Amino acid sequence: MGSVILGSGSALPKRCVTNEELAQSVDTTNEWIIERTGIRQRYLADDSETTSSLATEAAKKALEAAGIDAADIDLIVLATATPDQTFPATATTVQANLGIKDCIAFDVAAVCTGFLYALTVSDSMLRGGNARRALVIGAETFSRILDWEDRTTCVLFGDGAGALVLESREGEDGILATRLHAAGHHNELLYVDGGPSTTQTVGHLRMRGREVFRHAVVNLAEVLNEVMEAAGMTAADIDWVVPHQANARILDATAKKLSLPADKVIVTVDQHANTSAASVPLAFDVAVRDGRIQRGDMVVMEAMGGGLTWGAAALRY
Ligand code: UT7
Repeated sequence: MGSVILGSGSALPKRCVTNEELAQSVDTTNEWIIERTGIRQRYLADDSETTSSLATEAAKKALEAAGIDAADIDLIVLATATPDQTFPATATTVQANLGIKDCIAFDVAAVCTGFLYALTVSDSMLRGGNARRALVIGAETFSRILDWEDRTTCVLFGDGAGALVLESREGEDGILATRLHAAGHHNELLYVDGGPSTTQTVGHLRMRGREVFRHAVVNLAEVLNEVMEAAGMTAADIDWVVPHQANARILDATAKKLSLPADKVIVTVDQHANTSAASVPLAFDVAVRDGRIQRGDMVVMEAMGGGLTWGAAALRY
């Protein structure tokens, strides 16, 4: 058994906030943000927009693109670090929103690497026969956990969601290989200073950006090499790289390390900023809808985030 991608979808909050607008309330400048990160704007959720509402919108678009009914879904795996509630899983809220009476539904928490973890788990469950059609979603409202007094982090993130519909097929392989890692001893480099079992507060995101940056460039190049080897491909076989959208400089450095031309790298960080677990499926959907990623194309995805966690996937669309 293998699993193939039937369709993708994505969603963004209504409100777009440019760097200039942000600089009116945060001690920063448009020039600093663009030079250090490549970010020009981000979308921020209002009170009526939640992780589950963005996830549901992305899921509906993915189902439409896949040409299947919500009732045909028997597995929902949702990657998020900003769930609607501490429990139940936001995946179950999306299930209810989609009107699915019974299916497997749960969240995975691997922060910015969450979508790669969710994809790996879904692919394994489809191959193992636990389900036939899966919604794999990355959805976040990081604006809720940002410290808006901390200019070193609050300018970097945005909200959004992306989703894929996977189907298990005999003798067909869409997801060719995935590789995942975690290094929990680096917790203090990127974490939230709150939680139900410690402070009983939601907390705020804290990051030692320069150190995370250094780990990202090394780890992402390594895991991309690993996944390409596992899939039996070389950099020359890659049509598109869909990276986690944290920083344009990380994208450039990773592409250079692998000798990949910059025009094969899908970049949305300028438009969406860092949307954590949503960034990879969001960028993938943008590139499918604008016609860059075509059926049959070889695609690699990668991400790195809090944990530290990192991972990659190689697939044929
Ligand atoms: O998605 C999870 C993974 N996350 C990442 O991959 C993020 C990785 N890290 C990064 O992307 C970069 O490290 C940042 C964008 C976070 C920071 O860029 P940097 O080039 O590493 O800057 P820095 O932290 O070394 O700060 C340079 C200067 C500092 O001033 P001094 O100490 O040199 O005087 C900061 O205070 O820039 C200052 N600064 C700012 N200035 C204007 C920091 N944030 C801002 C700001 N506006 N928003």
